Amino acid sequence: MTKIIQKAIQMRDKAHTPYSNYTVGAALETKDGNIIGGCNIENSSYSLTNCAERTALFTAIAKGYSEFKALAVSTENGGSPCGACRQVIWELCGNIPVYICDDNGLVEETTSSALLPKPFDESKLR
Ligand code: THU
Repeated sequence: MTKIIQKAIQMRDKAHTPYSNYTVGAALETKDGNIIGGCNIENSSYSLTNCAERTALFTAIAKGYSEFKALAVSTENGGSPCGACRQVIWELCGNIPVYICDDNGLVEETTSSALLPKPFDESKLR
């Protein structure tokens, strides 16, 4: 199993999910080979919940990384990134491989571009 997939699976243990009990782990590989993890963090005001993918991305950006090679996401049943995360992944990573996993490893390999065809992006704002 690759390091990034292992990290995404491990990150499920860090999830804060008192409401759904659905734990999600994510891991990003930076251009220089570092692995940054994230987990979902729920809130009693449900819409304030932060998904695992965005936790990983925002943590990586806050640590000073800005170029990413791949993303892995792990759930108990091979869940795929939500629409909001797809937009954020596309915006911060461009087209990268996305590994969708469960506890046994890879379920599906896709790309951020396949997950978000015809994205809205900065080009429309100029
Ligand atoms: N969740 C993620 O962390 N990532 C996704 O892409 C889909 C949903 C979380 C949010 C919430 O804590 C739980 O999964 C159930 O929706």
